[in-house]
Amino acid sequence: MKRLSIFVSGNGTNLQRIAEYFANNPEVEIANVVCNNPKAYSIERAKNLGIPLRMVTKQDFNSEVFVAEMQSLDIDLIVLAGFLWKLPEGLVKAFPKRIVNIHPALLPKYGGKGFYGEHVHEAVVAAKEPFSGITVHYVNELYDSGEIILQAHVALDEKETPDSLAAKIHSLEQAYFPVAIEYVLRSQN
Ligand code: GAR
Repeated sequence: MKRLSIFVSGNGTNLQRIAEYFANNPEVEIANVVCNNPKAYSIERAKNLGIPLRMVTKQDFNSEVFVAEMQSLDIDLIVLAGFLWKLPEGLVKAFPKRIVNIHPALLPKYGGKGFYGEHVHEAVVAAKEPFSGITVHYVNELYDSGEIILQAHVALDEKETPDSLAAKIHSLEQAYFPVAIEYVLRSQN
């Protein structure tokens, strides 16, 4: 049995998709959802999916107690699915190669502090990039710079807007993020 912990800050469409993807797989279980935003729709989703929910404040998220709690849950993989806080070093060190993130652009471009959600799509459209896409990568101590696991591309149209690009990226995320997670779980020892 592989146990996932999914960290979220917002709508939770990726959380929903991952939960549905693994629902019929007896070898994968979502142990909990960790959420840092009391207004996130992800909270409703976790409740409806029947997954234990752990709300965190900045203070307890950055404490050693939280790291110990995660370790005690026997988590095989932490999945950042639209989670917008930087992870404390202690947590990254406690889960080497056991944390993955999804970024809504083709890293290393449009990554780093401030590049999240629609800000990424606004920058990509403003720069008239021919392509954008998604990047699933391992998480290290720096923003958006860990080893890349998967990238998928999509072309921008001439009349592309940040909203239309967001919809394209959303489709890529729905298609590829669960598959990338499954691949990582299979490659773990
Ligand atoms: C996703 O598009 C994800 O790639 C992005 O936040 C969105 C969350 O959507 N993540 C980042 O920007 C991380 N830097 P969701 O809450 O509906 O899954």
